[in-house]
Amino acid sequence: MNPPRTDARRHHDPEVRGFASDNYAGAHPEVLAALALANGGHQVAYGEDAYTENLQQVIRSHFGPTAEAFPVFNGTGANVVALQAVTDRWGAVICAESAHINVDEGGAPERVGGIKLLTVPTPDGKLTPELIDRQAYGWDDEHRAMPQVVSLAQATELGTVYTPDEIRAICEHAHAHGMKVHVDGSRLANAAATLDVPLRTFTNAVGVDLLSLGGTKNGALFGEAVVVLDPDGIKHMKHLRKLSMQLASKMRFVSVQLEALLARDLWLRNARHANEMAQRLAEGVRAVHGVEILYPVQANAVFARLPHDVSERLQKRFRFYFWDEAAGDVRWMCAFDTTEDDVDRFVAALKEEMAR
Ligand SMILES: Cc1ncc(COP(=O)(O)O)c(C=O)c1O
Repeated sequence: MNPPRTDARRHHDPEVRGFASDNYAGAHPEVLAALALANGGHQVAYGEDAYTENLQQVIRSHFGPTAEAFPVFNGTGANVVALQAVTDRWGAVICAESAHINVDEGGAPERVGGIKLLTVPTPDGKLTPELIDRQAYGWDDEHRAMPQVVSLAQATELGTVYTPDEIRAICEHAHAHGMKVHVDGSRLANAAATLDVPLRTFTNAVGVDLLSLGGTKNGALFGEAVVVLDPDGIKHMKHLRKLSMQLASKMRFVSVQLEALLARDLWLRNARHANEMAQRLAEGVRAVHGVEILYPVQANAVFARLPHDVSERLQKRFRFYFWDEAAGDVRWMCAFDTTEDDVDRFVAALKEEMAR
């Protein structure tokens, strides 16, 4: 069948891919097909549609009978809505210094959510009970913002992955101090693919209270969801989402994308593939003398240190970002559509530039 006619023109080369971000990728064709399926006719707006209703079943099949999904537009929105739901006006959130909520959300948790972030330096992006204790104190001290939540990212911003036991230990520790646990799961699928366990094994089964569930980096056009795993003490999510400008009127189009990813195994296929490409990349890079890999490669990111001039020349051939420009650290991300050929050409280019 011919695709429908359009007056829009293509403005990019669909064969060009880089290593800058998993957000540079387009949407998975199965997600686009799902969007077309959800199109046509009228559906009730603001989440009372058949797709959002069905998404709740899909979410429960992953996270158990008490889980409830609140679809939102983006990951920052998911984090800000989720964290507001578990903090009082005087509350604070403990997170890694490298956390996306701390360094990459333009201050939205503070400015939009009104939440104080209490940060902890970590060697690899991962919190531990001991690291949390550097900020977990002073609940009775009105001079200090009250620690009420621990927020961790799975996978972390540095491409590392917590084991279920590590998350369990954090949850037990946080709960013992009356704090809730939020997971920034923008790349939750990549973590599950690495651990080779169901999503629930390292979330609700080990005590996580709520999470931001990613769709965009996993092959969606856009769209994520706040997933409340344990509703105890978490109320008014619907109101918070609207107040935070994250309530989509045509919500069926967010929900159907998440359904397309999560109903069967598209989420896992996409994440496995992206992770495999990162492993292939890391293997190739390890064979290049003078390039150092900085963190364990456990998801779809490779962080490396190499001479600055080499990075600059390589960036003219493939898009990617400096992570810490002064140190010469760069980040290479793989996506669901990264090919073996992309990786091999990139490694060959890296070798050439290192040899110049
Ligand atoms: C760990 C993490 N959390 C959340 C986000 C949310 O991003 P956005 O608001 O751009 O959808 C990102 C995006 O890069 C991320 O890497």
